[in-house]
Amino acid sequence: MSEIETATAQALADIEAATAPDALEALRVALLGKSGSITARLKALGQLEPDARKQAGAEINRARDAIGTALAARKATLEAQVLDARLGAERIDVTLPGRDAGHGGVHPVSRTLERIADIFGRLGYDLADGPEIEDDWHNFEALNFPPHHPARAMHDTFYMASDGRGSSDGSGVARLLRTHTSGVQVRYMAEHVASGQGGPLRMIALGKVYRSDSDQTHTPMFHQCEGLLVDEHASFADLKGTLAEFVRAFFERDFEMRFRPSYFPFTEPSAEVDIAWQQADGSTRWLEVLGCGMVHPNVLKNVGIDPERYTGFAFGMGVERFAMLRYGVDDLRAFFDNDVRFLRQFA
Ligand code: PHE
Repeated sequence: MSEIETATAQALADIEAATAPDALEALRVALLGKSGSITARLKALGQLEPDARKQAGAEINRARDAIGTALAARKATLEAQVLDARLGAERIDVTLPGRDAGHGGVHPVSRTLERIADIFGRLGYDLADGPEIEDDWHNFEALNFPPHHPARAMHDTFYMASDGRGSSDGSGVARLLRTHTSGVQVRYMAEHVASGQGGPLRMIALGKVYRSDSDQTHTPMFHQCEGLLVDEHASFADLKGTLAEFVRAFFERDFEMRFRPSYFPFTEPSAEVDIAWQQADGSTRWLEVLGCGMVHPNVLKNVGIDPERYTGFAFGMGVERFAMLRYGVDDLRAFFDNDVRFLRQFA
């Protein structure tokens, strides 16, 4: 065996003995790399005589090809072994349940707001809106609460430091978190008058209101739905019919309703509405669900509507109250604790 044949046999044996891809790669570099032993032999050919060069060249090329083929074969074998080992070690159980991204749901209060808006929408009411940070005029004064009037004490108002902007008397205008949605009545009627529209006017306003109050049936923030209708012959009978229709549509049943005389500065006469609620033990209880009345002439005057020609009715209801009754929730605060175990029941 020639010296080159011996070296080749050794190289092939080394390749066969390599057990890891790294070791095989090291062998390839040592044999065929830039300064590998076979490469060195090829480089050295130039120093030989032409005849000897031809013979040695052919021998080296054969050696290089044999080594190249052996390297490639061994590489394929080792890679297959590595893959087999990985496939053996890593298992995928395709029968495992997938990872759930989690599903959201509509909050029961939002659901109730949508339901109320939907019912009044079908009765032809326009959906109106107003700011939660309100001024004294819209929240109180235009609604016939004169300054220092005792009725203001019915609302535990959150006031903000006055910033002096927009004040008419230089003392600064009081900003507050609206205590009810009735201010939207004022805004809606004033806009209606300013745009020169005549004719009947029907709106509801839904949104957050704030009062400094907190217990099982009160939270500092809650939601109200305000309703207003102004027309030439709007009557208390229309108000009763509208509310009866709403309550029936909302609860999908008929209720005995009671209109109890009450007081609000912005309605005259005023009433509180109770419904006869069937308790779990079979007995019925009167539950107060909303306040209402005929729009006070002073309110119409304050927005430039002639109270001799127009009359109106208005009502305001606590949205959470309706949600509690519909869903059988007995603690108002549950709506705002954001406990998913509670919320999931409505999703
Ligand atoms: N704004 C009143 C309240 O919050 C409810 C109401 C609205 C009463 C409209 C009469 C008419 O208590």
